[in-house]
Amino acid sequence: MNTSNILNVLLAVALVILSVKIAFFTSNHADVETDTSAAVINNILTRTSIRAYQDKPVEEEKIQQLLQAGMAAPSAKNKQPWSFVVVKKKEILQQLADALPFAKMASQASAVIVTCGDLTKTLEGEAAAFWIQDVSAASENILLAAHGLGLGAVWTGVYPGADRMKSVSDILNLPDHIIPLNVIPIGYPAESPAPKNKWKEENVHYDGWNAGEAGKSEAKATAPATAKESQWKKFNPMEQWQANPFTLFSKDWMLLAVGKKGDMNAMTIGWGGLGTLWGEDRPVVTVYVEKRRYTHSFMEKNEYFTVTAFPEQYRDALKYLGTHSGRDGDKIKAANLHVEYTQLGNPIFTEGKLVLECKKVYGAPFNPEGFGDVARKVYSDRPLHSVYIGEVVNAWIK
Ligand SMILES: Cc1cc2nc3c(=O)[nH]c(=O)nc-3n(C[C@H](O)[C@H](O)[C@H](O)COP(=O)(O)O)c2cc1C
Repeated sequence: MNTSNILNVLLAVALVILSVKIAFFTSNHADVETDTSAAVINNILTRTSIRAYQDKPVEEEKIQQLLQAGMAAPSAKNKQPWSFVVVKKKEILQQLADALPFAKMASQASAVIVTCGDLTKTLEGEAAAFWIQDVSAASENILLAAHGLGLGAVWTGVYPGADRMKSVSDILNLPDHIIPLNVIPIGYPAESPAPKNKWKEENVHYDGWNAGEAGKSEAKATAPATAKESQWKKFNPMEQWQANPFTLFSKDWMLLAVGKKGDMNAMTIGWGGLGTLWGEDRPVVTVYVEKRRYTHSFMEKNEYFTVTAFPEQYRDALKYLGTHSGRDGDKIKAANLHVEYTQLGNPIFTEGKLVLECKKVYGAPFNPEGFGDVARKVYSDRPLHSVYIGEVVNAWIK
């Protein structure tokens, strides 16, 4: 081989390596983008105020990340008119809790971040008041970052309450030009309240206040998957329940679905129950999933599940989903059903007529010690079911 042939071969090898690298990077990059956007939206939609904390300190590294998130907020003309006071000393946390009616939980928190406006850094004239928006944006960034880091936090307002501002300024020795906007207690959560779904179509107006429905229907058609639930009619199961709770599972069957986009499964269930638990205002759904089901592993690792009821014409589809496993292929596609995702990112079915979205509040296998005759007989030759109880956080009908 002469020199130019050798060079050509080397060049070809280099090109192949480069294209493989580019292909690998591009495909990975696309996955990362999809995963990241789902995670970001999910973090925003599942954030909720946490007011009870474990007796476990929040690492300084995480506090730094929260502050960094706060300072990443947008501010008018990039003035960044803010200051953050981090409180970790127990006696100061207690003083804040004693002084502020809505910040009692500060005494249990591992730390508090007081987000403040710095009047020496604001814009001039009436634009000076933009500091309130800027520091509010920083506060929300801190709440979202806390949720993303597995922490719990709550926004408690100080400004514009004159008494509250004076109390906080006195306790923290704030100079006159530093105005406390709010106090954010932070800690590892000792509660997990269900996030509220605050989506209300009537709060949205397109092209002006009275521009009519044209904009809305166009927007609906192009709405992202997470907003599709707006095609359903929301209802309050405690007040407007119409289905027979005894036949809903056993005779009509429901489809239990669990997981997130790209990693979900569904199976038909004939056993289940509706009721209330741990409070008269807490509607719950109970389902029973045998350990051998592929769905069982999804129930174990996910925080939410949904149950969907279908019109009679989908009985064959339900039979299929109750006799085939998601382990063996895309049975939902095979049954010709279509999945859409709620605002919280949970799977429901376009063909359904009623959906209950539930946050898991209990999950464990049956305890055979409690079995009576019927159960002893049922489980004499088959594995146990696990019992999952979910608080109904949303209900929709068509
Ligand atoms: C009408 C009907 C009702 C069912 N009810 C239940 C139930 O309540 N609990 C359960 O564990 N399995 C139940 N099954 C069985 C599962 O749906 C079935 O094993 C399914 O194939 C599991 O799918 P997977 O492996 O994808 O999770 C039922 C099946 C049918 C057809």
